[in-house]
Amino acid sequence: MSQSRINVLVTGANGGLGLGICLRLIDDFLSRNDEAESLNIIYTTRSVRKGSETLRTLQAHLRKHHPIQQHSRMTFQPENVELTSLVSVRDLAHKLVSSTDLARIDAVICNAGIGGWTGLDWYKAVTHVLADLMNNTVWPAYKLGTIGSVTKLQLPQERLSEPVPPLGELFCANLFGHYMLVHWLMPLLRTGNSTNASKIIWVSSIEPQADHFQESDMQGLQTDAPYEHSKRLTDILSLTYNQPATQQFVKDFTSSKSSLAATSSLPQRADLGAPAMHVYHPGIVVTSVISLYWIIHQAYLLSIYLARWIGSPWSTVEPYAAAHGATWLALTSEDEIQEAEVNANARSVEDGQPVAAQGRVKWGTAITRGGKTTVRPTEVDKWGVNGSGHDYATTWWGGANGRGRKPGAIEAKSTDVEEFIAQGVRAWDNMEVLRKAWEKRLDQAA
Ligand SMILES: NC(=O)c1ccc[n+]([C@@H]2O[C@H](COP(=O)([O-])OP(=O)(O)OC[C@H]3O[C@@H](n4cnc5c(N)ncnc54)[C@H](OP(=O)(O)O)[C@@H]3O)[C@@H](O)[C@H]2O)c1
Repeated sequence: MSQSRINVLVTGANGGLGLGICLRLIDDFLSRNDEAESLNIIYTTRSVRKGSETLRTLQAHLRKHHPIQQHSRMTFQPENVELTSLVSVRDLAHKLVSSTDLARIDAVICNAGIGGWTGLDWYKAVTHVLADLMNNTVWPAYKLGTIGSVTKLQLPQERLSEPVPPLGELFCANLFGHYMLVHWLMPLLRTGNSTNASKIIWVSSIEPQADHFQESDMQGLQTDAPYEHSKRLTDILSLTYNQPATQQFVKDFTSSKSSLAATSSLPQRADLGAPAMHVYHPGIVVTSVISLYWIIHQAYLLSIYLARWIGSPWSTVEPYAAAHGATWLALTSEDEIQEAEVNANARSVEDGQPVAAQGRVKWGTAITRGGKTTVRPTEVDKWGVNGSGHDYATTWWGGANGRGRKPGAIEAKSTDVEEFIAQGVRAWDNMEVLRKAWEKRLDQAA
């Protein structure tokens, strides 16, 4: 029997959440028991050595947990990319779009990222955690960020007539590198129609709030919270991707006619429509995204477990558990995801009546005390759960002050949602201006 192959690309797969996503993709995919389908995980790391180590881990997991008859349904494809180098990002995109073996990519999981913290404000960390362990480990206000960190020079200065501008390091690693990658991969992401559209899945965080993002500082070079800034911008872009007002910019971003496509000889592929875009957060996961001394790391691990045991639904702790939202989005059809969004939307009420909301949902991995995970809609500051601007009749987290809600969170009003969308329009505009400027420089320097 010939198998149809699903291709999922995961960035930053050698450790932490990215490795958890790959391991869980294997299990969730094989549990579907559809012999007619196979899954190819294209995963990126920053070196050949890390790619080989990851391959061994994935193969060992497959052998240990799945019968040999299933193994032919799984393949792994290691790739390398450094997301803070646009040349490296373009090289990977070029390799993939030129590949005659790759008919389409079904999902890209934009996972790789850096926190960029230099440490913790210990006084605040201890007092905050003692005062409210559950919430202050989920929404910490004691991490110390770096201000003004930039990537290495993107291009040799002598190849360009104008000075090569700096790029914010966290902005590029967490967002812009992926943004460029996804744009250049469009020939592989436009091969489905609305029911089997490919998916761009952003890995955000539960933490970012409206005031983490300053529009005047798009790359987060002046803030001491560039991580949260990059994640808030990720939320804004993803949640406004489908809004009519952003389409003039989204249309260019999702065009398959990039300068890379124009200068490469590409295999013939159908061009049926733009991919879908989703955003998810993994909860709080203990990984190396924040670097801590061994003993502090153990104390941190214990505190996140304690937060879960006293009732925090977002303290997922282990990468495999936290990966649930990403694998669900990657392996579920766009139709089913939209149906789940409609169910989330049906919770909005006005005068006691359900109201339809046009907005997208930020999905998150929630967990019970016993470690059972589910994928749940998450509240976004100034957007709410679905951009309805209406109160919620019920919420899965248990009402106004339920455990899944940031303390002091305020229901988004219609005017907040309007401003969120307006901010989305400006953000898409700015991202497209930046993308085009960098594509031009890369073309000139080639
Ligand atoms: N941990 C959490 O609680 C948490 C919560 C919310 C969201 N997240 C998000 O989850 C994602 C994964 O984080 P994690 O916690 O798993 O962190 P992690 O353990 O540090 O893993 C990060 C991964 O990204 C890769 N990476 C970092 N910078 C890169 C670059 N410039 N180019 C290419 N790859 C790069 C790393 O490669 P190297 O090993 O080579 O450095 C590694 O594979 C991030 O987007 C993070 O913001 C994490």
